[in-house]
Amino acid sequence: MSQKTSPRARIVCLPGDGIGPEVMEVAQRVLRELVPELELTDYLFGGVAIRATGGSLPDETLEACRAADAVLKAPIGDPEFDAADIRPEQGMLQLRAELDVYANLRPSRLGSVDLLIVRELVGGLYFGASGVREDGTVFDTMEYHPRQVERVVRRAFELAGGRRGKLTSVDKANVLETSRMWRRVVREVASDYPSVEVEDMLVDNAAMQLASSPEQFDVIVTENMFGDILSDLAAAVTGGLGLAPSASLGDGRLGIFEPVHGSAPDIAGRGIANPAAMLRSTALMLNHGLARPEKARALEGAVDVALRDAPTPDLAGTSTTAEFADAVLAALGG
Ligand code: NAD
Ligand code: IPM
Ligand code: MN
Repeated sequence: MSQKTSPRARIVCLPGDGIGPEVMEVAQRVLRELVPELELTDYLFGGVAIRATGGSLPDETLEACRAADAVLKAPIGDPEFDAADIRPEQGMLQLRAELDVYANLRPSRLGSVDLLIVRELVGGLYFGASGVREDGTVFDTMEYHPRQVERVVRRAFELAGGRRGKLTSVDKANVLETSRMWRRVVREVASDYPSVEVEDMLVDNAAMQLASSPEQFDVIVTENMFGDILSDLAAAVTGGLGLAPSASLGDGRLGIFEPVHGSAPDIAGRGIANPAAMLRSTALMLNHGLARPEKARALEGAVDVALRDAPTPDLAGTSTTAEFADAVLAALGG
């Protein structure tokens, strides 16, 4: 038995909407096989929670998340709520803020590309003042306190130090005050990490560089909204959204582990969703959240085998979600 982990680690599972329950089912099947002692409990979250309780993040779900060892989350979101006052995505932002998981790690690997986006997750354009003025003008604002920048930048330097030692800080300092402050903070923090090579890059150029020569990047650190957009792009150049996992971490032990992709309403209910991103997020949970690196490596290896042997339609294959899961379980068992 590991000394660091309690034998019955409690995992709050949030199956969510659209393809969410389809990929969560695969993650749970695999976890029951790989780490049978985990306690997996489903809670309402997202559109399904709005229908049942009127809110996206019910109190019971939030309390369970706070008391958990890790939160494993499938995507939420449903076009049904696009124009509604209460939307699934609001619960998502609330949960991230309540757990203060400010560092969202979004790795992308394929061939010679091995990069990690560290996206600030509880500030910036998603959390600044917003509203409607008397004249009808609608506004969202990007706001950061230097302390919010410092903690995520520091986390990115730490991560870069454990990798290839290169950090790219992405901003829009030629236009935005927040970005100019972000650059100042990066420069200050850099003096504590002399072995990490750091560069600044404007976000429009960063998008172009990611599309045309992604292998140049090691760790990228950036604002919430920039990171949202760039991480879908990084996923696209490394095999697609069906492959891209994430870990959202704070200063404590508790993290949220979820795919980068959404609820994919266009393919929901057809049994063809690619569960690789969900399974890789599960591996991140085993590694970062539960201190089980050997289980995480086994799962990552089994996912790679299934990607080769049983690719889903998004990867030009013909396997169903369940067949992909069978291939993962076979690789783990064999
Ligand atoms: P999306 O990521 O759901 O889908 C974009 C495209 O990628 C679609 O064509 C979809 O079929 C495909 N795709 C995504 N994941 C896939 C998978 N695992 N296997 C195969 N194909 C996959 O983005 P969207 O359509 O813009 O958003 C749909 C909903 O999801 C929205 O309500 C949005 O708010 C929500 N969303 C939620 C999260 C989250 O919960 N973290 C993330 C992104 C989007
Ligand atoms: C993501 C999603 C979310 C985000 C939405 C659903 C709020 O796109 O996790 O990437 O923008 O953070
Ligand atoms: Mn996104």
